[in-house]
Amino acid sequence: MIRKIEGLTWACFTLLLFMASSCGPGGEDGENDSTTDPDLIEPDEGTDEASADEPAADEPAAEDAGPDADVEEEPGVCPEGLTDCAGRCVNLLGKVAGTADALALGDYPVRTRLYDWWVTSDASGWTSGFLPGILWAAYESTGETAWRTRAETWTAGLEDCKNDTTTHDVGFQIFSSFGRGYLLTGDAAYRDVVITTAGSLATRFNPTVGALRSWSWGSWRFPVIIDNMMNLEILFWASKNGGDAAWYDMAVSHALTTMENHVRGDGSIYHLVDFDPATGEVVLRSTWQGYADDSTWARGQAWAVHGFTMTYRETEDAVFLEAARRVADFFIDTLPPDAVPYWDFDAPGIPDALRDSSAAAIAASGLLELSTLATDPADRARYADAARSTLASLCTPDAGGGYLAEDATGTSISPGLLMRGCQTHPDSVSGSNQCDESLIFGDYYFLEALMRAASAETP
Ligand code: GLY
Repeated sequence: MIRKIEGLTWACFTLLLFMASSCGPGGEDGENDSTTDPDLIEPDEGTDEASADEPAADEPAAEDAGPDADVEEEPGVCPEGLTDCAGRCVNLLGKVAGTADALALGDYPVRTRLYDWWVTSDASGWTSGFLPGILWAAYESTGETAWRTRAETWTAGLEDCKNDTTTHDVGFQIFSSFGRGYLLTGDAAYRDVVITTAGSLATRFNPTVGALRSWSWGSWRFPVIIDNMMNLEILFWASKNGGDAAWYDMAVSHALTTMENHVRGDGSIYHLVDFDPATGEVVLRSTWQGYADDSTWARGQAWAVHGFTMTYRETEDAVFLEAARRVADFFIDTLPPDAVPYWDFDAPGIPDALRDSSAAAIAASGLLELSTLATDPADRARYADAARSTLASLCTPDAGGGYLAEDATGTSISPGLLMRGCQTHPDSVSGSNQCDESLIFGDYYFLEALMRAASAETP
């Protein structure tokens, strides 16, 4: 588990200062009459399986399972990469090993409350790709085969998702796992899975709307959520690596449609825009996980920062750099002093409203990439500084008013890395209460941000 290392080395300090289903086959058009939101429900929640061998977060589950010997630290020696946090040597990877080794294969971690254990989903859950993605990040960071073995094992369980045409979430599921695995291993079988998945996602493109349909549940006609920007990456990548060139054009079209219809004049975003699939006209602008239709859901804003930045990287089209700048500037300018947003920028009860550390982590990662792509040196510094401020707060222990899952003694308080994530707030339109928790996707983007912060490309 997390161990607070005394005698922090300068190497470590400098590094961080330098920064600082089974996916079932879908119907032909993906439509159904269900009002259930699969993004919010984990099928195994509350099952015996999920809770049977439920270790408390501050006791030995992870340590019984044992952080891999390869990632053990020497006392007083700061290890490299993901084990660092804002100038403190914190054994983040030991915790990750505990999660991967203690969970039953196929039970993908989703979220956990304080001193609890993971609520899990099967492979079809939208978050299933993030544990494999974290394991690939650990392999990338350490080069150790134990991490590769774990990553391969957890990645393999997601292969059926490649044929799922019922959701945009296959991008999250497969690019974080098989995609990241291919980039590190060059395994052609992984590339084939990514390309098949991109083909499945492309079936959701409607040329009249000029976008991919996000959800196949609910009463909307053709809902497109801002989150969907993240799932364009698999189309861009596949189109350049053996897939259909038309997927690139679909991704560009989706990004333009989103830029025109989801981004408000002040750079804030609508979570959900519903279109008439026959005419392409906007039916309504709304939200599901946000507080109100005209409010700004923080994680949606973070997806926009990350997604438009990625789209600019892939296209080099200046319109997307401008879109990324606008949504990033809104995000930064609307943050509270500790640079971690409330769950909705217009949440009732601010400044006492709950935060969303996952939105902070996603945005920090996106801002760090934007800091390497922006053309104006002042912008580059501004985005990197904002991301570092966020990471400094995320790396402050929960017990110290921060977000890292540690108590005042440096002992872990959750099997997750961050606390105070908010998948859905009870005051959101969805009404679901999954707030003030560790979230596996928050942890994924937190580690991605730490790695980007340590990269030499970051100003
Ligand atoms: N649909 C992804 C999210 O809840 O942010």
